[in-house]
Amino acid sequence: MKTLENLFDFPFNIFDPAGVQAGWLANLGWVLVVLMSVLIIGMAVLVVWGALRRRGRLEEHMPIDVDGGKGWILWGGVALPVTVLTSLFVVTVVTLNMLPGDREEPALAVKVTAHQWWWEVDYLYDDLPQRFSTANEIHIPVGQPVRIELISSDVIHSFWIPKLHGKIDAIPGHTNALIVEAEEPGVYRGECAEYCGVQHAHMRFVVVAQPPEEYQAWAARQREPAAPVTDPKLVKGREAFEGYACALCHSIRGTKARGQVAPDLTHFASRMTIGGIMPNTRARLQAWIVNAQALKPGVRMPTLEEFDGETLNALAAYLESLE
Ligand code: CUA
Repeated sequence: MKTLENLFDFPFNIFDPAGVQAGWLANLGWVLVVLMSVLIIGMAVLVVWGALRRRGRLEEHMPIDVDGGKGWILWGGVALPVTVLTSLFVVTVVTLNMLPGDREEPALAVKVTAHQWWWEVDYLYDDLPQRFSTANEIHIPVGQPVRIELISSDVIHSFWIPKLHGKIDAIPGHTNALIVEAEEPGVYRGECAEYCGVQHAHMRFVVVAQPPEEYQAWAARQREPAAPVTDPKLVKGREAFEGYACALCHSIRGTKARGQVAPDLTHFASRMTIGGIMPNTRARLQAWIVNAQALKPGVRMPTLEEFDGETLNALAAYLESLE
């Protein structure tokens, strides 16, 4: 697995797929690249040849004029483009038909809601008590098809995990679905691929593909409410969370914090990132609490300067205890 510090150095290489669907798209990409390269090189050769062949004196060259050049028009202007474009159309349609989000019976269904500028992830187990919610981090079992139902709460976003699937738009009022199936365990980077406001470039997430038993253990932990705290410092932190603005927007299940407009923080410390943009460490968390606007300008999280040092410390310690 990648370490946290290089989490966002992952290359966005669609030709290095780690999932079934991305593999199909990479094959389509290679067909396009090879065919277009042949055509472009062929055109370049013809242009050079055309420029060179008439050098010298006119009488040295007989113009190539068989039947008024109709052969060039017929083969180069009609037959070639029709063949190339038709075969590309067929290959593309066949590939697209392999990708619908509703055909397979998935092992797991996840609803992803795009917000300016974060991703809400709800695990849609049929048994309601099994459901839970997280943010900016999607865990999936390796080798199993997972359906992702995609919607937006505000503007149009686009959901893109280059190593697992192509881009799919997240649209308000309309659910799009895709199936992803990771073939190798690992942490994959995802990003919003449709301009959606000032923090579009910071609208990132990670996908953690785990062996199924590891995924199940993770999900079982996520389902639990936050563990009660007894350490006085952590109690002070929890009371600060419940008593200040935090609880108006965020939920921590098992506490009085029931806000519904911002990420569920019940298991915040188990996540790799803060706000999808930086490694989840104590120092960064304190900076984020006090001045999220400096780190992700325009984000809904307000600047919170009311905490004294001790309270801020306790608050960060409490959040970092939420494994
Ligand atoms: Cu969301 Cu760009």
